[in-house]
Amino acid sequence: MMNLPIRPRRNRKNEAMRGLVRETTLTTANLIYPMFVHAGQVDEPIEALPGCVRWSLSGLVEECRRLHEQLGIPCVDLFGVVPEALKTPNGVEAHNPHGIVQQAIRAIKAGLPELLVMTDVALDPYSSYGQDGIVRELPDGGVEVLNDETVEALVLQALSHAEAGADIISPSDMMDGRVAALRTALDAQGYTRVSIMSYTAKYASAFYGPFRGALGSAPKTGDKKGYQMDPSNAREALREAALDEQEGADILMVKPATLYLDVIAAMRRRTQLPIAAYHVSGEYVMLKAAAALGWLDEKAAVLEALMSIRRAGADMILTYAAPQVAEWLAEEKR
Ligand code: PBG
Repeated sequence: MMNLPIRPRRNRKNEAMRGLVRETTLTTANLIYPMFVHAGQVDEPIEALPGCVRWSLSGLVEECRRLHEQLGIPCVDLFGVVPEALKTPNGVEAHNPHGIVQQAIRAIKAGLPELLVMTDVALDPYSSYGQDGIVRELPDGGVEVLNDETVEALVLQALSHAEAGADIISPSDMMDGRVAALRTALDAQGYTRVSIMSYTAKYASAFYGPFRGALGSAPKTGDKKGYQMDPSNAREALREAALDEQEGADILMVKPATLYLDVIAAMRRRTQLPIAAYHVSGEYVMLKAAAALGWLDEKAAVLEALMSIRRAGADMILTYAAPQVAEWLAEEKR
Protein backbone atom coordinates (compact mmCIF):
# COMPACT_ATOMS: atom_id res chain seq x y z
CA MET A 1 0.00 0.00 0.00
CA MET A 2 2.64 2.50 1.01
CA ASN A 3 4.60 2.13 -2.20
CA LEU A 4 1.54 2.86 -4.35
CA PRO A 5 1.40 6.47 -5.46
CA ILE A 6 -0.75 8.54 -3.08
CA ARG A 7 -3.21 10.57 -5.13
CA PRO A 8 -5.06 13.28 -3.15
CA ARG A 9 -6.55 14.54 -6.42
CA ARG A 10 -9.06 11.62 -6.38
CA ASN A 11 -10.98 13.63 -3.75
CA ARG A 12 -11.17 16.59 -6.12
CA LYS A 13 -12.22 14.74 -9.29
CA ASN A 14 -15.60 16.41 -9.79
CA GLU A 15 -17.98 18.81 -8.07
CA ALA A 16 -19.97 16.04 -6.37
CA MET A 17 -16.81 14.56 -4.86
CA ARG A 18 -15.55 17.99 -3.84
CA GLY A 19 -18.91 18.57 -2.18
CA LEU A 20 -18.59 15.37 -0.16
CA VAL A 21 -15.20 16.30 1.25
CA ARG A 22 -15.81 20.02 1.73
CA GLU A 23 -14.82 21.03 5.26
CA THR A 24 -16.26 24.53 5.48
CA THR A 25 -19.43 26.18 4.24
CA LEU A 26 -20.58 29.76 3.89
CA THR A 27 -24.29 30.49 4.10
CA THR A 28 -26.48 33.56 4.41
CA ALA A 29 -27.30 32.40 7.96
CA ASN A 30 -23.69 33.32 8.88
CA LEU A 31 -23.96 36.95 7.74
CA ILE A 32 -24.50 40.20 9.63
CA TYR A 33 -24.95 43.41 7.65
CA PRO A 34 -23.61 46.69 9.10
CA MET A 35 -25.88 49.62 8.16
CA PHE A 36 -25.72 53.40 8.58
CA VAL A 37 -28.71 55.54 9.52
CA HIS A 38 -29.05 59.33 9.71
CA ALA A 39 -31.81 61.78 10.57
CA GLY A 40 -32.10 63.12 7.00
CA GLN A 41 -34.97 62.39 4.62
CA VAL A 42 -32.83 61.10 1.75
CA ASP A 43 -30.89 57.89 1.28
CA GLU A 44 -27.33 58.95 0.44
CA PRO A 45 -24.93 56.51 -1.23
CA ILE A 46 -21.60 56.54 0.63
CA GLU A 47 -18.75 57.32 -1.74
CA ALA A 48 -16.11 55.90 0.58
CA LEU A 49 -17.98 52.59 0.86
CA PRO A 50 -19.33 51.69 -2.58
CA GLY A 51 -22.66 49.86 -2.35
CA CYS A 52 -23.42 51.23 1.15
CA VAL A 53 -25.88 53.97 1.98
CA ARG A 54 -26.60 56.48 4.74
CA TRP A 55 -30.23 55.51 5.14
CA SER A 56 -33.13 57.67 6.18
CA LEU A 57 -35.35 55.98 8.78
CA SER A 58 -37.97 54.95 6.24
CA GLY A 59 -35.35 53.88 3.68
CA LEU A 60 -33.67 51.78 6.36
CA VAL A 61 -36.84 49.91 7.25
CA GLU A 62 -37.67 49.30 3.60
CA GLU A 63 -34.17 47.97 2.90
CA CYS A 64 -34.28 45.78 6.02
CA ARG A 65 -37.53 44.27 4.74
CA ARG A 66 -35.83 43.35 1.45
CA LEU A 67 -32.75 41.99 3.25
CA HIS A 68 -34.82 39.91 5.61
CA GLU A 69 -37.74 38.74 3.46
CA GLN A 70 -36.06 38.38 0.06
CA LEU A 71 -32.45 37.63 0.93
CA GLY A 72 -32.81 35.89 4.29
CA ILE A 73 -30.21 38.02 6.09
CA PRO A 74 -30.65 37.19 9.79
CA CYS A 75 -29.13 40.25 11.48
CA VAL A 76 -28.28 43.92 10.87
CA ASP A 77 -25.80 46.01 12.87
CA LEU A 78 -26.73 49.69 13.22
CA PHE A 79 -24.45 52.73 13.24
CA GLY A 80 -25.82 56.24 13.75
CA VAL A 81 -24.51 59.13 11.66
CA VAL A 82 -24.94 62.35 13.63
CA PRO A 83 -24.29 65.93 12.49
CA GLU A 84 -21.33 67.86 13.96
CA ALA A 85 -23.79 70.05 15.89
CA LEU A 86 -24.87 67.07 18.02
CA LYS A 87 -21.31 66.01 18.89
CA THR A 88 -20.11 66.95 22.37
CA PRO A 89 -17.00 66.24 24.47
CA ASN A 90 -18.88 63.55 26.44
CA GLY A 91 -20.97 62.25 23.56
CA VAL A 92 -24.24 62.39 25.53
CA GLU A 93 -26.30 62.09 22.34
CA ALA A 94 -25.28 58.40 22.41
CA HIS A 95 -27.92 57.65 25.04
CA ASN A 96 -30.66 60.02 23.89
CA PRO A 97 -33.80 57.83 24.03
CA HIS A 98 -34.98 59.61 20.86
CA GLY A 99 -31.59 59.49 19.14
CA ILE A 100 -31.31 58.23 15.58
CA VAL A 101 -30.18 54.70 16.50
CA GLN A 102 -32.86 54.33 19.18
CA GLN A 103 -35.50 55.45 16.65
CA ALA A 104 -34.10 53.06 14.05
CA ILE A 105 -34.24 50.08 16.42
CA ARG A 106 -37.89 50.84 17.24
CA ALA A 107 -38.82 51.29 13.59
CA ILE A 108 -37.20 48.03 12.48
CA LYS A 109 -38.53 45.95 15.37
CA ALA A 110 -42.05 47.36 14.84
CA GLY A 111 -42.10 46.25 11.20
CA LEU A 112 -39.80 43.22 11.26
CA PRO A 113 -39.83 41.68 14.72
CA GLU A 114 -37.91 38.59 13.57
CA LEU A 115 -34.93 40.41 12.07
CA LEU A 116 -32.16 40.51 14.70
CA VAL A 117 -31.09 44.07 15.45
CA MET A 118 -27.60 44.56 16.79
CA THR A 119 -26.18 47.93 17.78
CA ASP A 120 -22.70 49.33 18.14
CA VAL A 121 -21.90 50.68 21.59
CA ALA A 122 -19.09 53.28 21.67
CA LEU A 123 -19.05 57.07 21.77
CA ASP A 124 -17.04 57.93 18.64
CA PRO A 125 -19.94 58.95 16.33
CA TYR A 126 -21.16 61.29 19.12
CA SER A 127 -17.81 62.56 20.47
CA SER A 128 -16.48 65.94 19.36
CA TYR A 129 -13.02 64.36 19.79
CA GLY A 130 -13.88 61.40 17.56
CA GLN A 131 -12.77 59.10 20.37
CA ASP A 132 -14.69 56.05 21.59
CA GLY A 133 -14.92 57.29 25.16
CA ILE A 134 -14.77 60.18 27.59
CA VAL A 135 -11.62 62.16 27.14
CA ARG A 136 -9.21 64.07 29.35
CA GLU A 137 -7.02 66.64 27.63
CA LEU A 138 -3.33 66.26 28.40
CA PRO A 139 -0.91 69.15 28.95
CA ASP A 140 1.04 68.12 25.82
CA GLY A 141 -2.07 68.71 23.67
CA GLY A 142 -2.91 65.00 23.42
CA VAL A 143 -5.89 63.20 24.90
CA GLU A 144 -6.44 60.25 27.20
CA VAL A 145 -9.62 58.17 27.04
CA LEU A 146 -10.76 57.57 30.63
CA ASN A 147 -11.73 53.95 31.21
CA ASP A 148 -14.20 53.86 34.08
CA GLU A 149 -15.99 57.11 33.19
CA THR A 150 -16.39 55.74 29.65
CA VAL A 151 -17.82 52.44 30.90
CA GLU A 152 -20.53 54.37 32.78
CA ALA A 153 -21.46 56.20 29.58
CA LEU A 154 -21.50 52.95 27.58
CA VAL A 155 -23.89 51.44 30.11
CA LEU A 156 -26.34 54.31 29.54
CA GLN A 157 -25.99 53.92 25.77
CA ALA A 158 -26.55 50.14 25.92
CA LEU A 159 -29.59 50.48 28.20
CA SER A 160 -31.16 52.97 25.79
CA HIS A 161 -30.66 50.48 22.95
CA ALA A 162 -32.10 47.61 25.00
CA GLU A 163 -35.06 49.78 25.99
CA ALA A 164 -35.70 50.48 22.28
CA GLY A 165 -35.70 46.74 21.55
CA ALA A 166 -32.16 45.79 20.45
CA ASP A 167 -31.46 42.04 20.40
CA ILE A 168 -27.67 42.22 20.57
CA ILE A 169 -25.44 44.90 22.10
CA SER A 170 -22.00 45.12 20.59
CA PRO A 171 -19.42 47.19 22.51
CA SER A 172 -16.68 48.27 20.08
CA ASP A 173 -14.79 50.57 22.45
CA MET A 174 -12.18 48.19 23.99
CA MET A 175 -12.48 49.64 27.54
CA ASP A 176 -11.55 47.26 30.37
CA GLY A 177 -14.42 45.74 32.31
CA ARG A 178 -17.19 46.94 30.05
CA VAL A 179 -18.69 43.52 29.34
CA ALA A 180 -19.25 42.83 33.06
CA ALA A 181 -20.66 46.32 33.58
CA LEU A 182 -23.04 45.98 30.62
CA ARG A 183 -24.20 42.48 31.64
CA THR A 184 -24.82 43.60 35.22
CA ALA A 185 -26.77 46.70 34.17
CA LEU A 186 -28.80 44.89 31.50
CA ASP A 187 -29.78 42.13 33.95
CA ALA A 188 -30.60 44.61 36.70
CA GLN A 189 -33.03 46.36 34.34
CA GLY A 190 -34.64 43.07 33.28
CA TYR A 191 -32.94 42.79 29.89
CA THR A 192 -31.70 39.27 30.53
CA ARG A 193 -32.55 38.26 26.95
CA VAL A 194 -30.35 40.93 25.37
CA SER A 195 -27.11 39.39 24.10
CA ILE A 196 -23.61 40.85 24.22
CA MET A 197 -21.29 40.44 21.25
CA SER A 198 -18.03 41.82 22.51
CA TYR A 199 -15.39 43.31 20.25
CA THR A 200 -12.87 41.15 22.06
CA ALA A 201 -9.80 41.66 19.90
CA LYS A 202 -10.20 44.92 18.04
CA TYR A 203 -6.93 46.09 16.58
CA ALA A 204 -5.76 49.70 16.05
CA SER A 205 -6.02 49.17 12.31
CA ALA A 206 -5.46 51.35 9.26
CA PHE A 207 -8.35 49.50 7.63
CA TYR A 208 -11.15 51.46 9.37
CA GLY A 209 -10.55 54.53 7.19
CA PRO A 210 -13.56 54.24 4.85
CA PHE A 211 -15.90 53.58 7.80
CA ARG A 212 -14.68 56.70 9.60
CA GLY A 213 -15.25 58.63 6.37
CA ALA A 214 -18.81 57.29 6.17
CA LEU A 215 -19.54 58.33 9.75
CA GLY A 216 -17.36 61.45 9.93
CA SER A 217 -15.94 59.86 13.08
CA ALA A 218 -12.16 59.98 12.59
CA PRO A 219 -10.26 61.02 15.74
CA LYS A 220 -9.66 64.80 15.74
CA THR A 221 -6.64 64.46 18.03
CA GLY A 222 -4.38 61.50 18.56
CA ASP A 223 -5.19 57.93 17.66
CA LYS A 224 -6.86 54.92 19.30
CA LYS A 225 -3.72 52.98 20.23
CA GLY A 226 -4.32 53.49 23.97
CA TYR A 227 -7.31 51.16 23.82
CA GLN A 228 -7.40 49.27 20.51
CA MET A 229 -4.87 46.44 20.29
CA ASP A 230 -1.41 46.54 18.76
CA PRO A 231 -1.41 44.64 15.43
CA SER A 232 1.82 42.96 16.59
CA ASN A 233 0.06 40.98 19.32
CA ALA A 234 -1.80 37.68 19.21
CA ARG A 235 -1.40 36.26 22.75
CA GLU A 236 -2.95 39.42 24.12
CA ALA A 237 -6.12 38.59 22.16
CA LEU A 238 -6.42 35.34 24.10
CA ARG A 239 -6.13 37.26 27.35
CA GLU A 240 -8.94 39.58 26.21
CA ALA A 241 -10.99 36.52 25.21
CA ALA A 242 -10.60 34.90 28.63
CA LEU A 243 -11.71 38.14 30.31
CA ASP A 244 -14.72 38.68 28.05
CA GLU A 245 -15.78 35.09 28.63
CA GLN A 246 -15.54 35.48 32.42
CA GLU A 247 -17.40 38.78 32.22
CA GLY A 248 -20.35 37.15 30.48
CA ALA A 249 -20.00 37.84 26.75
CA ASP A 250 -22.22 35.64 24.56
CA ILE A 251 -20.14 36.01 21.39
CA LEU A 252 -16.51 37.06 20.92
CA MET A 253 -15.42 39.15 17.95
CA VAL A 254 -12.13 39.58 16.11
CA LYS A 255 -11.65 42.67 13.96
CA PRO A 256 -10.39 43.12 11.20
CA ALA A 257 -10.89 39.61 9.81
CA THR A 258 -8.76 38.51 6.84
CA LEU A 259 -5.61 40.17 8.20
CA TYR A 260 -6.11 38.44 11.56
CA LEU A 261 -7.03 34.87 10.61
CA ASP A 262 -4.32 33.59 12.97
CA VAL A 263 -6.06 35.36 15.85
CA ILE A 264 -9.44 33.86 14.91
CA ALA A 265 -7.89 30.38 14.70
CA ALA A 266 -6.09 30.72 18.04
CA MET A 267 -9.25 31.96 19.73
CA ARG A 268 -11.26 29.11 18.17
CA ARG A 269 -8.94 26.60 19.91
CA ARG A 270 -9.36 28.26 23.33
CA THR A 271 -13.06 29.06 23.69
CA GLN A 272 -16.37 27.25 23.41
CA LEU A 273 -18.15 30.54 22.69
CA PRO A 274 -19.26 31.47 19.16
CA ILE A 275 -16.80 33.70 17.32
CA ALA A 276 -17.68 36.59 15.02
CA ALA A 277 -15.26 38.29 12.64
CA TYR A 278 -15.69 41.81 11.22
CA HIS A 279 -14.59 42.04 7.58
CA VAL A 280 -14.02 45.78 7.91
CA SER A 281 -14.45 48.69 5.53
CA GLY A 282 -10.82 48.66 4.34
CA GLU A 283 -10.90 44.94 3.60
CA TYR A 284 -14.13 45.46 1.67
CA VAL A 285 -12.97 48.45 -0.42
CA MET A 286 -9.71 46.72 -1.40
CA LEU A 287 -11.76 44.03 -3.11
CA LYS A 288 -14.27 46.54 -4.53
CA ALA A 289 -11.51 48.72 -5.98
CA ALA A 290 -9.59 45.84 -7.53
CA ALA A 291 -12.82 44.51 -9.03
CA ALA A 292 -13.76 47.95 -10.41
CA LEU A 293 -10.35 48.12 -12.10
CA GLY A 294 -10.92 44.71 -13.62
CA TRP A 295 -8.03 43.26 -11.62
CA LEU A 296 -10.07 40.73 -9.63
CA ASP A 297 -13.25 38.74 -10.23
CA GLU A 298 -15.39 40.31 -7.52
CA LYS A 299 -17.67 37.37 -6.77
CA ALA A 300 -14.88 34.79 -6.63
CA ALA A 301 -12.60 37.03 -4.57
CA VAL A 302 -15.25 38.08 -2.04
CA LEU A 303 -16.52 34.53 -1.55
CA GLU A 304 -12.95 33.26 -1.10
CA ALA A 305 -12.15 35.97 1.45
CA LEU A 306 -15.29 35.19 3.45
CA MET A 307 -14.66 31.42 3.22
CA SER A 308 -11.15 31.95 4.62
CA ILE A 309 -12.69 33.67 7.63
CA ARG A 310 -15.05 30.74 8.17
CA ARG A 311 -12.20 28.24 7.70
CA ALA A 312 -10.14 30.05 10.36
CA GLY A 313 -12.98 29.37 12.79
CA ALA A 314 -15.44 32.26 12.73
CA ASP A 315 -19.09 31.28 13.04
CA MET A 316 -20.46 34.57 11.75
CA ILE A 317 -19.13 37.41 9.62
CA LEU A 318 -20.01 41.09 9.64
CA THR A 319 -19.59 42.32 6.09
CA TYR A 320 -20.68 45.19 3.85
CA ALA A 321 -20.93 42.58 1.09
CA ALA A 322 -23.72 40.69 2.91
CA PRO A 323 -26.61 41.56 0.54
CA GLN A 324 -24.53 40.83 -2.55
CA VAL A 325 -23.23 37.57 -1.06
CA ALA A 326 -26.76 36.50 -0.12
CA GLU A 327 -27.78 37.07 -3.75
CA TRP A 328 -24.82 35.08 -5.09
CA LEU A 329 -25.48 32.20 -2.70
CA ALA A 330 -29.18 32.14 -3.65
CA GLU A 331 -28.26 32.06 -7.39
CA GLU A 332 -25.96 29.11 -6.79
CA LYS A 333 -28.78 27.12 -5.19
CA ARG A 334 -31.01 27.63 -8.24
C1 PBG B 1 -16.24 52.52 16.32
C2 PBG B 1 -16.15 51.47 15.27
C3 PBG B 1 -15.21 51.46 14.22
C4 PBG B 1 -15.58 50.38 13.41
C5 PBG B 1 -16.68 49.76 13.99
N1 PBG B 1 -17.02 50.45 15.16
C6 PBG B 1 -14.11 52.38 13.87
C7 PBG B 1 -13.07 52.71 14.85
O1 PBG B 1 -12.86 52.02 15.85
O2 PBG B 1 -12.43 53.75 14.64
C8 PBG B 1 -14.88 50.02 12.13
C9 PBG B 1 -15.68 49.32 11.10
C10 PBG B 1 -15.10 49.26 9.73
O3 PBG B 1 -14.02 49.79 9.42
O4 PBG B 1 -15.78 48.67 8.89
N2 PBG B 1 -16.08 52.20 17.63
